[in-house]
Amino acid sequence: MAIRNYLPPLPAFLFSTLVVGGLAAKTLHIGLHFSSLPFLYLVLYSPTLILPDLLIIFFVRILLQFPAPETRLQWVSTCLGGVLSLLTWGASSIQFGFFMQTGAEVAWSASNSFLSDPAAMKILLSGISTVSAAGTALGLIAWLIHAYLYTLTGLALQGVRDLFLGTYKARYTLLSAPNKSWMASVDLRSARRVALITAALVSLLFLELSRPSIPYDHLSGALPLTLLDAFHHKTSTAEGCRNPAKPFPLYDPGEQSSLADGWSRPAWLPQVAPSGFSRWDKDPAQRAEEDNPSYFICDGGADGFFNPKADPLKISNLGDDIYEPLQKAFNEHSVQIDNVILVTLESGRKEMFPMQQGTPMFDGLLASHQESKRDEATDRLVTMTPIAQMLTGEYVSDSKGERVNLTAAKWQDPAEEGMGGLNVRGALTGSSLTFKSILGSHCGVHPLPVDLLEESLLEIYQPCLPQLFELFNQVKSPKSPVPIESRSNTSSSTPPSIDSLKKPWKSVFMQSITDDYDRQNILDDNMGFKHKVVKETITSPHAKYHAQGEEINYFGYAETELKPYVRDLFYEAANNNTRIFLSHVTSTTHHPWKTPRRWQKEDYMGAVGNINHDLMNSYLNTARFVDEWLGDIMNLLEETGIANSTLVVIVGDHGQAFGEDNKDMTGTYENGHISNFRVPLVFRHPHMPRINIDANATSLSIIPTILDMLVQSNSLDTRDSEIASSILPEYQGQSLIRPFVSSVKEGSHHDGKVENPDDNAKRAPHKHHDRPHTRYAWNFGLINAGGSMISVTAAGLPYRLVLPLREGFEYGFSHLDKDPGELHPIKAWTMGSLLKEVESDYDEEASEWLEEAEQVAKWWVNNQIRIWGYREA
Ligand SMILES: *[C@@H]1O[C@H](CO)[C@@H](O)[C@H](O)[C@H]1NC(C)=O
Ligand SMILES: *[C@@H]1O[C@H](CO)[C@@H](O)[C@H](O)[C@H]1NC(C)=O
Ligand SMILES: *[C@@H]1O[C@H](CO)[C@@H](O)[C@H](O)[C@H]1NC(C)=O
Ligand SMILES: *[C@@H]1O[C@H](CO)[C@@H](O)[C@H](O)[C@H]1NC(C)=O
Ligand SMILES: *[C@@H]1O[C@H](CO)[C@@H](O)[C@H](O)[C@H]1NC(C)=O
Repeated sequence: MAIRNYLPPLPAFLFSTLVVGGLAAKTLHIGLHFSSLPFLYLVLYSPTLILPDLLIIFFVRILLQFPAPETRLQWVSTCLGGVLSLLTWGASSIQFGFFMQTGAEVAWSASNSFLSDPAAMKILLSGISTVSAAGTALGLIAWLIHAYLYTLTGLALQGVRDLFLGTYKARYTLLSAPNKSWMASVDLRSARRVALITAALVSLLFLELSRPSIPYDHLSGALPLTLLDAFHHKTSTAEGCRNPAKPFPLYDPGEQSSLADGWSRPAWLPQVAPSGFSRWDKDPAQRAEEDNPSYFICDGGADGFFNPKADPLKISNLGDDIYEPLQKAFNEHSVQIDNVILVTLESGRKEMFPMQQGTPMFDGLLASHQESKRDEATDRLVTMTPIAQMLTGEYVSDSKGERVNLTAAKWQDPAEEGMGGLNVRGALTGSSLTFKSILGSHCGVHPLPVDLLEESLLEIYQPCLPQLFELFNQVKSPKSPVPIESRSNTSSSTPPSIDSLKKPWKSVFMQSITDDYDRQNILDDNMGFKHKVVKETITSPHAKYHAQGEEINYFGYAETELKPYVRDLFYEAANNNTRIFLSHVTSTTHHPWKTPRRWQKEDYMGAVGNINHDLMNSYLNTARFVDEWLGDIMNLLEETGIANSTLVVIVGDHGQAFGEDNKDMTGTYENGHISNFRVPLVFRHPHMPRINIDANATSLSIIPTILDMLVQSNSLDTRDSEIASSILPEYQGQSLIRPFVSSVKEGSHHDGKVENPDDNAKRAPHKHHDRPHTRYAWNFGLINAGGSMISVTAAGLPYRLVLPLREGFEYGFSHLDKDPGELHPIKAWTMGSLLKEVESDYDEEASEWLEEAEQVAKWWVNNQIRIWGYREA
């Protein structure tokens, strides 16, 4: 083995990129976790952390030892070394580019689902400039020191070789030719060196074996080996049976009634049960084996479906009274809901709906301005979202404390004073991945705690809104007319026609961007949308209204391109005897926050602070753009005359964390920050009294609330009303037309086992528990991409846990009353050390909650996988 040291141009440079790229990536990797590591241990174990890198470096150095390869073997060796170096350089550049854009780390294990997806590739490419900048910088450094590195490592290898070969030779001489002067033949110095190196290796080995595997195994991962994670691809399947349920850790949820108890096929269920209704279809006790085995639990063959009666987390408020003013409006028959619109605000933060003073976000925005300019900045910011002010009824004040003048807004609220519907403050999303969140709002289900939209391969475990409306259509067969329900004594100017409750529903999904991303199109179908308008519709040569403007982000167009389609749909509802359910997801508020060129942007941000405020400024502008768009939609409702009979539900899919919120980490991807979770939630109807609801509800409440409203306002005929009332208690969320219940003592009538709100008086408390236990309304938030971390809160309590679901992610705890902007979360690598820190920084109550939260969340994750019937293949 000859390790040459004179300078070969290409191999030496390639080798240098490996060293620079690998070590830089490792530094970044450790730096990202630095704050959560005990310093002393980090120092102690640091040699084991870079050991894999050193081994790789020397291995590649041996491969690249031939400056001018001659034999075939040398060529193979050089090429292999070159490829490994290029991979490391590239991966390191991507890691740095990604970090500069988001503050997060690339999870290579999630990357191959991205690579097969054109829209996802565009996301990656959108960061190409930072990645190439990082690559150039790394390459430049590598170039500057390549000669030095190559020679140095060559010398080191030579030294090692000489040392071992030398000693070996010495010992060999010693054994084969012993003589009196053998001492002289041994190179004493090298023997000492060998001893020293051996001692070092032994202690290294000891450190390696004794170090805790969490987090140090993850921290020691070295490029290019970590790239192998990308090949560990898991796919899911609905085949096979389901895992058995685990016992609930906290309390005995009482008799675990099975689905089969008292089962009878509902009369309203069509002959062939539509998708979403499987669990009502057949007697679970008698399901024949020829059925899909995924309906069953593996051992014993019990049914595996979600069973609301056995859900230990469910809290039902259906037995409680409706808010009084709302009940009054319903009694007066003044609320008519013929149509439902569900607007999902992409990256819609509650702090901006409407933008107002007094939030941690607002303080962050003001901090970008000089002291003297803050009043002016405040006045500009508080006029940013006038439509949101009117929709929520949260009228905001300017720097002088005066109510903002909204007369210039695009839409003026025609509702009478004190009217407008429900406005929820304190709502949280179920996931910071858009379509996982949409599953909650459209289907009332918690998403699957795995990466990306694996839900699209499975049957959704509750019926989604379009499926419910389709069911209403199906049971209204024209052959057997049901007695017509008359709606008497309405106070609206035009009494609804008697037939209005007989009109068929039409569900339409609209977004001006592609739905071809991460199997969203499949999910749209699975949720029951038969009609949709997406980017592909408005760019097709047969498009009724072809897109006029330019594409504003890598997914597609601004939502204003949909205006003629929305208008047509509203006219259809007005003139063609159709009840519409429109689901619309906005798009401009998505990264990279571009607005159409002709639209005038404003400057909301100053230049104070050591971060760049351009992104936040763009984001705020898109929020104003979407606010105007909501004004357009409201105007279209009035133009077509259906405003008084339409319920408009507005919810954010998730928030969006920026550097102004938390310098360390931005974006939603693998970022548990609270600003990714606070969302607006509004149920707007001009004839419903305005009610502000302070509750930590989630979008899981949307379906139960809509159904409850439809029933209570007599907006369904008798038959549909019966169906809706019998399905309503099956959902996990609470209805928001009744006061939200944050926690209950076990055994009280709220504990979810109410099948029918009327018969809860008959129920006796459960006898199984030793002491009453408090059942909280737990909120789980899956952190984008879904399988790495989950956030846990309990309604009404200030604590928040971020729980890692796989290796390489940290635990986090925050107290949102004391730290509402979550600027100082406690981070730790193990639950034990987190508990210790929480107990010392806060109190025992907090740490007790934390223990409970961890157990519940772990149970929940397991249970979700079971009730979705998900299996990894
Ligand atoms: C609000 O602004 C409009 C002009 O946009 C003005 O005409 C009106 O007088 C203002 N109203 C109040 C109460 O200041
Ligand atoms: C819960 O709701 C209250 C308002 O009722 C709010 O102040 C609090 O921040 C919410 N909690 C979370 C975790 O958002
Ligand atoms: C409807 O109004 C009439 C008088 O306007 C009243 O006599 C009748 O009782 C009302 N019916 C209902 C169901 O409220
Ligand atoms: C009106 O409704 C009928 C069925 O009720 C449908 O066939 C027709 O296409 C609708 N017209 C429009 C303009 O949507
Ligand atoms: C809608 O209701 C309001 C009362 O809130 C009434 O003034 C208005 O005329 C109604 N509009 C239509 C189109 O019926």
